[in-house]
Amino acid sequence: MADNARIKVDKNSVISDIDNRIYGSFIEHLGRAVYEGIYEPSHPTSDELGFRGDVIDLVKELNVPIVRYPGGNFVSNFFWEDSVGPQENRKKRLDLAWRTLEPNEVGINEFTKWAKKADTSVMMAVNLGTRGLPDALNLLEYCNLNTDSYYSELRRKHGDEEPYGIKLWCMGNEMDGPWQVGHKTAYEYGHLAAETAKAMKLMDDSIECVVCGSAHINMPTFGSWEKTVLEEAYDYVDYISCHQYFENKAGDTEDFFASIDDIDSFINTVTSICDEVKTSKSSDKTINISFDEWNCWYHVLEQDDEMMKKEPWGLAPHLLEDNYTYEDAIANGLALIKFIKHSDRVKIACLAQLVNVIAPIMTEKNGPAWRQTIFYPFLHASTYGRGTALVTVITSGTHDTAKHKDVTDIESAAVYNKEKDQLVLFIVNRCLDKTIPLKLDLSGFNEFTNVKHIALESSDMLITNSVSNEQVKPIERDGIPATLAPASWNVLIFT
Ligand code: AHR
Repeated sequence: MADNARIKVDKNSVISDIDNRIYGSFIEHLGRAVYEGIYEPSHPTSDELGFRGDVIDLVKELNVPIVRYPGGNFVSNFFWEDSVGPQENRKKRLDLAWRTLEPNEVGINEFTKWAKKADTSVMMAVNLGTRGLPDALNLLEYCNLNTDSYYSELRRKHGDEEPYGIKLWCMGNEMDGPWQVGHKTAYEYGHLAAETAKAMKLMDDSIECVVCGSAHINMPTFGSWEKTVLEEAYDYVDYISCHQYFENKAGDTEDFFASIDDIDSFINTVTSICDEVKTSKSSDKTINISFDEWNCWYHVLEQDDEMMKKEPWGLAPHLLEDNYTYEDAIANGLALIKFIKHSDRVKIACLAQLVNVIAPIMTEKNGPAWRQTIFYPFLHASTYGRGTALVTVITSGTHDTAKHKDVTDIESAAVYNKEKDQLVLFIVNRCLDKTIPLKLDLSGFNEFTNVKHIALESSDMLITNSVSNEQVKPIERDGIPATLAPASWNVLIFT
């Protein structure tokens, strides 16, 4: 036993209403995300378009409100016209980002239909790597307009009478990264993104635009990139992106859990830069954050590099198929807590990705779809984390790890859902060897009588799930737990 943890929540101490899009995700034309992932025409559960029904069911279970598409690095050399119209006429292309053959069997016509079937909406990225403003405009016209003009008419010719109505648009992807095809300096990119967003909004003023921030917090240009890009694009965009992947290559679980606190400084730094530029421009618009790539990603990085080097240009290779451990699920739970706590400025977040590629959902070719360990914290947050985020005042012990000091033993977020009259606490005990007694002080919530406790608990940090063995899955109990198990994810639902 160790120090008590106390969490104080007050119904009147509100952070923000939560934008449901923080439970978004991402499908890129990469590996087996599309082909053999969402799309496998010969699969027994597939529909008339070739979409796997079992995958759609799992996506619906996760209740994902928005899915970013079609990349990622892929988008920076994506020729969208190749992905529309009669499938038999589509060009096969070489995808330079993942050194893969892109058959263009699934493209914009198909993906927009898949999104409808999966009860989600599309967040579309435009290619600002090898293409630019004119092609972004053509794509927007194709997707969103019902005019007598060429691209709008082309969509109708392709059988889609009604526009797709895509409301959220990414101005390229990770343009700060030297690995990006068509990588640019901050000024070059900021200017291009500004002009592209400006023109796109002239065509359709109902859309919102996301400008690229840094590919991760350790980029050498982090900070100066955001400032220069926003100085160019502030007036025309609505969100700036953050991307961050977590890893435990060192095999140090407590430091891995502590590293999720880096999200706080990432978000705080980027929002400060947004507000500094806002002040310098005397603008009354606030730019918020789209944290549109986040996850753990490290298990198969080297293997993937080898495969791309030695066996390029294959169709649907097994790339980025990390098999997630128990500790990855806890790390992801911590990240979700951070997004709830920063919901005043983080309005969109995308778990990268959704199917087969660093994903909560995996598929076997011609076989079942199954849930990785990381499926569960996302499921719980997406199911129970909608409403208003409340301040959690946490009093707990602290510990130091290899690279982080004064890490709180527990981390927690609270969400009140007014319609359901339901309070939910998400709590992680991030100590490996302490069972922590829990005390709650819930001011304004005394009328609750029913408490359900859902938890992930394990003493083995490295267990994984597989198609035939779900070793990591939630347990459910009634009542408030007296203690929190070491390295546990806990959801307390008060009704
Ligand atoms: O999600 C995998 C890749 O990670 C994306 O293509 C890219 O944007 C990021 O570097």
